[in-house]
Amino acid sequence: MPDLRFRAVETERLIVRPFIEADAEARFALMREAFGMDWPHDQMMRWHQWTLGSYESFAALWQPPYGDYAVALKDTGELIGSVGIVPALVPWAVLDSATPTDTFVQPEFGLFWAVAKVHQGHGYAAEAARPVIAFLFDVMYTRRVIAATEFDNLASQGVMRQLGMTIRRNDSGSPPWCQIVGVLER
Ligand SMILES: CC(C)(COP(=O)(O)OP(=O)(O)OC[C@H]1O[C@@H](n2cnc3c(N)ncnc32)[C@H](O)[C@@H]1OP(=O)(O)O)[C@@H](O)C(=O)NCCC(=O)NCCS
Repeated sequence: MPDLRFRAVETERLIVRPFIEADAEARFALMREAFGMDWPHDQMMRWHQWTLGSYESFAALWQPPYGDYAVALKDTGELIGSVGIVPALVPWAVLDSATPTDTFVQPEFGLFWAVAKVHQGHGYAAEAARPVIAFLFDVMYTRRVIAATEFDNLASQGVMRQLGMTIRRNDSGSPPWCQIVGVLER
């Protein structure tokens, strides 16, 4: 059986790796800044512990390595972002359709990405997402990966384009996190 853990990978400028204990505060600051995540600190800590534990448990259960990973600068080790693999529920029939036949959803491997504001605009998100996509295609034998975002999140759509994703629209606008869906077939 293949090892289904996503392990540390180096890119030209980055290390994409599992989070460790010491990342907690930098990770919380990133999530507050990127997504306005305002959970109480003890809830954040439980989430961080759950993330760390999930790496081992998913692998032991032969489950996909869903979850969040750290993006650090290779030169300094500074944590500058996060990428994640999430089960994304996609209502395929509503995409690019004025008259959807149904609104049923299908789970897909979804990607998320966040980069600290001071480090945005350097192409880090796509650079960090590439090894995750390579893992999903080459180790997990995934047929496709997707990323979903809002109409006005042009930066995220830019990342989708850099990754070669086809951008599809959900003109119903609902659910809001699935207004735009980037799709990459293997
Ligand atoms: C989305 C995000 C991760 C992009 O990270 P990044 O490393 O700065 O990405 P890039 O530097 O490659 O920029 C992405 C592209 O969007 C463009 N872009 C960035 N901000 C933009 C804006 N406000 N309006 C239009 N285009 C924008 C960039 O010019 C770039 O385009 P290019 O490919 O033509 O050069 C970052 O903006 C972020 O963390 N946002 C908050 C979290 C978030 O929304 N995550 C996505 C959840 S779905």
